[in-house]
Amino acid sequence: MNLFPIYSLYDVEPVKGSGNYVFDANGERFLDLYGGHAVISIGHAHPHYVKTISEQVARLGFYSNSVQNSLQQQLADRLGKACGLDDYSLFLANSGAEANENALKLASFHTGKQRVLAFGNAFHGRTSGAVQVTDNPKINSPFNLTDKVTFVPLGDIEAVKRELQSGEYCAVIIEGIQGVAGIRVPDNDFLCELRKVTQRMGVCLILDEVQSGYGRTGRFFAHQYAGIKPDLISMAKGMGNGFPIGGVLISPMFKAWGGMLGTTFGGNHLACSAAIAVLDVIVDENLVANAREVGEYALEQLRGVPGIKDVRGRGLMIGFDVDGSAPELRKRLVMEHHIFTGGAGASTVRLLPALNVTKEHIDEFIRVIKQILN
Ligand SMILES: Cc1ncc(COP(=O)(O)O)c(C=O)c1O
Repeated sequence: MNLFPIYSLYDVEPVKGSGNYVFDANGERFLDLYGGHAVISIGHAHPHYVKTISEQVARLGFYSNSVQNSLQQQLADRLGKACGLDDYSLFLANSGAEANENALKLASFHTGKQRVLAFGNAFHGRTSGAVQVTDNPKINSPFNLTDKVTFVPLGDIEAVKRELQSGEYCAVIIEGIQGVAGIRVPDNDFLCELRKVTQRMGVCLILDEVQSGYGRTGRFFAHQYAGIKPDLISMAKGMGNGFPIGGVLISPMFKAWGGMLGTTFGGNHLACSAAIAVLDVIVDENLVANAREVGEYALEQLRGVPGIKDVRGRGLMIGFDVDGSAPELRKRLVMEHHIFTGGAGASTVRLLPALNVTKEHIDEFIRVIKQILN
């Protein structure tokens, strides 16, 4: 049987990981500044993570959501403390798209309304509702076509106000920082206004922190830079450091009823123990502060590199543009210099390393990129 050929792949196969590096079968070492698409938060094969998951799988890997599972409550307690939102509730899912799907559903249940406002170039995932609020017609099948979603430009608060006046909207969904669009940071003032107007109009504000959350930007959630409190926050990627887990943080205004949401795998024992281990390490090793400090250093260093333009981002969610082909540059970085980076379109490079990356790793990247762009 062949694999369905949907991905364009580098001719590299990492078989082992350690910290900020992955290794192929020949023992060749690659610096990972991509984190497997912003997923690796505490580094590859962190000993505490390996031990916690190994012990859990040897005890009990899975049982269904029809029985008590105190690991879920432990995770909720730890998460509430880490992000400062311990009055919110947690619904556990398996991926970013599923988290958004459930957030959209909660907003619609809560308000009884159907329409959703999203932003130009947004990416929220590939499942039915998540792809409908994603601004990319190419990945929406005819089945997904809907007239229930309106897109307005990121930052255009007047367009938001005009749309919400119809009274038909259940939600506005926005990324903490747009990732797939190439790292587009919404202004703090815009987010504050957005919070005010959604509150005034009785529309739920959903913050998609799937990529920008879990400490990546130097705050636990990127929207915390604006000091706002959304109604729903979706998260995934960094939450399990590669173990598939996602979740929605739900503000106290939502009332649950039995069977309202559900999943077979969400919140399973193994996923919860992975996520608890991730939070242990994030807190013990002070990784949110490290993301802020090393991220600021990286932004500053990148701004001094000839040939690099429009350096942007927060913490370790960084984008910059280059003249010429970014995909070609990224391929050279991997194949010739053994450095993984992320991309976005024809001219953007993204850096999304694990939160324990060091200034020395950044220096190594700067040295190589200077050499290539020279
Ligand atoms: C902001 C954002 N939301 C949602 C998703 C979808 O997450 P998943 O691929 O886990 O479904 C992504 C994935 O890249 C993302 O960047």
